[in-house]
This record gives sequence, C-alpha cells and structure tokens, in this order.
Amino acid sequence: MRVAVLGVGYVGAVTCGCLAQLGHQVVGVDVDAGKVQLMAGGSSPVREPGLDRLIEEQVAAGRLTATTDVAAAVSASEISLVCVGTPSGEDGLLDVRQLERAVRSVGRALRDSDGMHTIVIRSTVLPGSCERLVLPLLEHESGALAGERFELACNPEFLREGSSIADFLEPTRTVIGELRSGAGDAVEELYAGLSGVVFRVGLAEAEAIKLADNAFHALKVAFANEIGSLGRAVGADGREVMRVLAADTRLNLSPAYLVPGNAFGGPCLGKDLRGATALAAEAGLDVPLLGAIARSNERQLQRVVDAALATGATRICLAGLAFKRGTDDLRESPLLELAARLAAAGIDVAAFDPGVSVDSIGGANARWAQARLPSLSRLIAATLREALEGVGALVVGADVPGLVEAVAARPALPVIDLVGLLPPGPAVAHVAW
Ligand SMILES: NC(=O)c1ccc[n+]([C@@H]2O[C@H](COP(=O)([O-])OP(=O)(O)OC[C@H]3O[C@@H](n4cnc5c(N)ncnc54)[C@H](O)[C@@H]3O)[C@@H](O)[C@H]2O)c1
Repeated sequence: MRVAVLGVGYVGAVTCGCLAQLGHQVVGVDVDAGKVQLMAGGSSPVREPGLDRLIEEQVAAGRLTATTDVAAAVSASEISLVCVGTPSGEDGLLDVRQLERAVRSVGRALRDSDGMHTIVIRSTVLPGSCERLVLPLLEHESGALAGERFELACNPEFLREGSSIADFLEPTRTVIGELRSGAGDAVEELYAGLSGVVFRVGLAEAEAIKLADNAFHALKVAFANEIGSLGRAVGADGREVMRVLAADTRLNLSPAYLVPGNAFGGPCLGKDLRGATALAAEAGLDVPLLGAIARSNERQLQRVVDAALATGATRICLAGLAFKRGTDDLRESPLLELAARLAAAGIDVAAFDPGVSVDSIGGANARWAQARLPSLSRLIAATLREALEGVGALVVGADVPGLVEAVAARPALPVIDLVGLLPPGPAVAHVAW
C-alpha cells in the first residue's frame, strides 16, 4: 500500500521503518525540516535501538522517503497515519493543537482527490476526539462527508520506547476503531500477516482502550510499589510477594475481576483491605492507592443506587442478593447493600435470588443481613415472577434463570444490568451502565 505517515517522532519514525519493511511504499511527513532531512538521508530522526539501520535499509531499498509537503504525500497515498504529538495540556487534558493542524492539512489535501483515502489517528487522543474533533475538521477541509472521499479510523499505538521495533512487528493485538463498519479495512490490510488478534471496535472504544491500557500499567506499578512498601514496613519481601502474586494466572493476571459492573463485596475483600490499610496506618505508611479502593467501591455502589432511583420507579426488582451466584452468603454483599439503600430511600424493593431464602440463612450471615436490612424477610420474593410483579425498574445483579425471557416480555422496563446478562439493543429499555 502507499502510506503517508504524519509526524516522524518516536511513533511515526518506527511506523515508517516497520511499514516499509513490511513492503509498503511509505512517505514520512513532518513540519520539522530537520527530522525530514534526517529520514530522507537514511537516518532515524529519533534515537531508538535498531531504527537507524532499519531506516537506512528502507530508504536504500526505495520504499521509504520523507518530505515536509503534506499535500504531495497525501495525494500520492491511499492511507494517512497521523502520529503527531498530543502532549499534556495545562488543564490535564491532551493538547490537540498538533493533531488539529495535521488533520486540517490532510483534509485540505483531499479536497481535489477523486479516490478513497483512509485517515487513521494513531496519536493518543481522549475518547470522543475522533468523532467530535477530527471528523468535523476533515469534513470541513475536504468538502466531503465521511464515506464519500475518505474513511476515518483510529489505530492506537502500544509500542514501548526501547523495544519499539519488536513491539511493532510482533504485536499481541491490533486495535482498529472505525467510524462506520468497513472504515478500518485498509488499516487491517496494512498489518496483514502480523501476529496477534485484530479487534475492530468503535472509535470511542479504540481511543478509550489506549487510555485504559496506560492507566492500568500505571496502576500496576503503583500497586506493586505500595505492596513493596507495606512489605518493607512489616518485614515481608515485597518482590517475593509480587512474584508469587503474579504466578496466579486464574485470578490475578487474568481477565478475572476486570469487567465493569457492580461494586465488590463479600466477607473477605473489604475486611482484608481494611486490614492492610490499617496495618499501613499503624506503621505510619501512606498508601493512597490501597486506601482509595474502598472509596472507589463505595462510589460505584452509590452510582447503582442513584441510577435505580433515577428511573423514577417506586417498586424495583433486584435480581440476585448473595455476593456470589449460587451461594446464600449475604455478608457485605453489594446487592444486599443496594437493597438496603433503596429501601431506605422509600423504594418498595422486591428481591429474588434462587440461592437465598429467609429460612436457609443463619449464623453470622443472618446476623449481618438482619442488621443491615431488618426488613429482608419481607423483601425476598419466592419466585422471579413474584419479584417482577408491578415493578417499574429492574436491577440485574446475577444471572437468575428465566430473567432474559422475563425481560424480553417487558421491553419497556428500565433495566440496570450489572452483569451484562441481557443483550444490548432496542428490545430492552437499558439504563446505560
Ligand atoms: N512515545 C511513545 O512511546 C508512544 C507510544 C504510544 C503512543 N504514543 C502517542 O503517539 C503520539 C506521538 O508520540 P511521539 O512520542 O512520537 O511524539 P513526538 O513528539 O516524538 O513526535 C511528534 C512529531 O509530530 C510532528 N508534527 C507536529 N505537527 C505536525 C504536523 N502538523 N504535520 C506533521 N508532523 C507534525 C512533530 O514535529 C514531531 O516530530 C502521541 O499522541 C503519543 O501520546 C507515544
């Protein structure tokens, strides 16, 4: 393919060299004439292991050129990858001035084109930027609507400086966000033959994946450091602790617990987290990340309560009560807490959980439930049908048998689906979750 790469900094220069190596005809474009001159002369404009040689080889092979002339580069290409900088702005948001300028220049270059051109945002941008910023700029400058003369896609970059060539050529996954179905076809073609899974998603999801990735990496570093500090304070080797923690690929380094939904709960997580933070406090150690987890969890719970109240329903069905499906353990169950808060707000709550019956729970479990929600026995319905009678909204907290069919029969019922049980779509009046 004929490819223009706008911005030949760390991401753009690697992209140029690697795409040329894959056999594409690549032109690197930058407003910095010095960088362009370096690349055109066969050197890397940035320092990165192996990149000088790669660029030298590709320039010598005639597959890589460089220019400051955007219009010429874009009109000679089928696809443009925008790799300009998006530094942090004073307000913490990303500064998109380089992006705006680059996108405008591509749009202008497309004004008189007759073929179809794919514009790909590879720079890191905040979710919504492609659709709300890039698209209108492109339409305005090109004088065409998306799909007429251009397609718009987002293809975030996940390379790490220092190992970026290997990261580029051996990806674990490729993320392609599309304005509309098919808009990312040319991007997928560009990377044909590379390793990893290709994810075709919406533009906002692609943008958000990059942000979530970096937030997750930062979270992991901060978490490991707090565990290390806590370990030091109490005489445990933090590196050993984290090494063994990482060896569990079922719950720790796995997709487990990584699905947005309800708050966590149960008899252990909250208790042990309180133990860890209290221990840190006793040792005079500040662990703001560990300390923030309970606050974050409380916020999540209250968001569910607020969403349920916002439906305006006076009677609400809660499907699921126990903290884990198939058990009757109500201790620190977020669903029991939800029922308690809704009841306290004057809502007529009807709860159904096939694993929970008033007669079956006892001991500490019963004492907890009774203390948190004295009216529990009145709220528990014997069947799902009974729980759904006369309700104005439903909160799905567990995969209760018969629920999907029951909801399908009441398409106008507002549903807050905390577990992703129901298929999204017009059949259900979903409350966004
Ligand atoms: N550096 C990384 O490790 C990395 C990894 C993944 C994603 N990213 C993201 O990729 C983007 C680029 O990062 P970078 O580190 O390569 O930035 P960079 O600052 O090294 O390079 C950006 C380049 O864009 C050029 N540029 C600015 N305006 C231009 C225009 N209108 N037309 C053409 N070129 C223009 C600049 O002169 C510069 O050479 C950022 O959004 C960044 O967040 C970076």
